[in-house]
Formats: sequence, C-alpha cells, structure tokens
Amino acid sequence: MARFQLNEKIVLVTGGGSGIGAAICRATAEQGARVVVAELDANRGRQVVADLGDTAMFQQTDVTDLASVQNAVAIAAQRFGRLDVLVNCAGIGHVGSVQETEPADFDRLMAVNVRGVYHGSRAAVDQMLAQDPKGGVIINIASVAGQIGVPRRFAYCATKGAVIAMTRQLAVDYVKEGIRCNAICPGTVYSPFVEGYVERFHHDTREQTIAELHARQPIGRMGRPDEIADLTVYLASDEAGFMTGSAVVIDGAWTAT
Ligand SMILES: NC(=O)c1ccc[n+]([C@@H]2O[C@H](COP(=O)([O-])OP(=O)(O)OC[C@H]3O[C@@H](n4cnc5c(N)ncnc54)[C@H](O)[C@@H]3O)[C@@H](O)[C@H]2O)c1
Repeated sequence: MARFQLNEKIVLVTGGGSGIGAAICRATAEQGARVVVAELDANRGRQVVADLGDTAMFQQTDVTDLASVQNAVAIAAQRFGRLDVLVNCAGIGHVGSVQETEPADFDRLMAVNVRGVYHGSRAAVDQMLAQDPKGGVIINIASVAGQIGVPRRFAYCATKGAVIAMTRQLAVDYVKEGIRCNAICPGTVYSPFVEGYVERFHHDTREQTIAELHARQPIGRMGRPDEIADLTVYLASDEAGFMTGSAVVIDGAWTAT
C-alpha cells in the first residue's frame, strides 16, 4: 500500500503563496489532500490555487490578525467539512544585531512569526476539538535560527526560538485530545525569502553571496522548498502518529558542525 497518503485530509497552509509554503501546498495536494492557501498576497495565493485546480482554494489571510485566521479556518471547515492539518508557514525576516534592531522591527517580526503561530494554533485547536472525529496535526515552520545564534539575526532568532517553544507546549496540552504538533527547523532554503534578502543587502555581490549561502551548509548547497515540503507530508501523515512535540532539523548538517 502506498504510504504517506493524505487522502481526504484538509490542509490549511499560512503563507502558502510562495517558497516553502507553496511547495507544501503542491506536495500535500499531490498526496491527495484538499488544500487551503491562506496567504496575505492575493496574487501569489491565487496563482498557487490556479496551478492546483479544484481541490484547492485561496483565502486571503493576515496571520497577524486573529479574526482573519479564524475566518480562514471557518471557511475551510465550511467548504471541506473539517480541518485536519494546519501548517503555520507564514514568516518574515530581519537582518540586524540587537543594536541594529529597532522596536518596530522587533514588533513586526513578533507579530508575524510568533503571534501568527499563536493565532493559527488557537483557531485550529478550536476547530480540531469541535469536529467529529476530533483531532488533527499542527506543523510549525521554525528554523535552525531558533536553535543556534545566526549572526545579525537577533529578532529572527528570537521569534523562531519562540515557535519551537510553542510547538512543545501545544504538543503537551493536546496530546490526549488527538492533536499532534511538531516543528520543522530548516537551514537556508533557496526561496523568494532568500532572493529578497540577497537583492536588498547584497545587490552588487549577488553571485558571491549566493555562493556563500550554498557553502555555509556542509552539504555544499541550500535546501529546496520541495525538500521541506516532503518532510511536511510525513509529519502530516498517519505514519507520523507517534511523533509529537519534536523539532525536526533539516539543514544539510549546518547545525551538526
Ligand atoms: N527560506 C529559508 O531559508 C528559510 C529557512 C528556515 C525557515 N524558513 C521559514 O519558512 C517560512 C517560509 O519561508 P519562505 O522562504 O518560503 O518565504 P517566502 O517569503 O517565500 O514566503 C513567505 C510567505 O508568507 C506570506 N506572508 C507574510 N506575511 C504574512 C501575513 N501576515 N499573513 C499571511 N501570509 C504572510 C508572504 O506573502 C509569502 O508568500 C518562514 O516562516 C521562514 O521563516 C525559511
């Protein structure tokens, strides 16, 4: 029998319009899931849905706003009947040491990367406990930046550490209710997120910076969004039934050195 199938599962992906989130939408749809692309950027979100066809829908969502996320979960449940998997993937970056991080930068990162995960989890847990049969899976896209100090990523590291802590805490509270919660901690993955950073901070040395980002990880390259998506499929599947409360590193040995 084919393994890691997501047939009949309803998957909602925040930040599903780009990079890792878009790859997660594609991979889960390929495994048979119905996918809700919950994305702030309507053009990006609609494009992903156009590629996936009838089994997917777009719902414009701002993860910094609890009501917006609750609305997306309610619409997903109305359209497809329930919510089986929430992937909290929406996230933003910031470059700066503590001295280079203004309060507004810090608040912006906390609002998207930390409150966004709180809002998504709150809305999803409410739905997952109310539905019959109850239960579900929450997957938080954290980062190795939540586990190690990355130079000049003060606010980003703080937010991703919080995501890992929330993951463990959620797993403990809801393990008896049939809700599993795990985090994925990618190393550097080549996506529009990285492309935007290179364009903004290293425009004149683009090729060299990209080569350095590849070389930073012992495996000699950046990850690909589809590689993170394949791990997400496993965590979402019934085969991962014993797995909850974990932070899974996928980083080409960056943190192993
Ligand atoms: N790319 C990497 O190297 C890397 C490494 C580790 C972790 N991550 C994490 O993976 C996640 C996805 O990263 P990516 O590289 O695919 O980035 P990306 O910039 O390509 O995609 C992020 C998506 O989130 C959306 N978004 C931003 N703010 C939002 C909001 N308030 N509400 C809803 N959607 C919003 C954006 O519009 C975008 O489509 C992020 O949480 C990021 O921190 C990325």
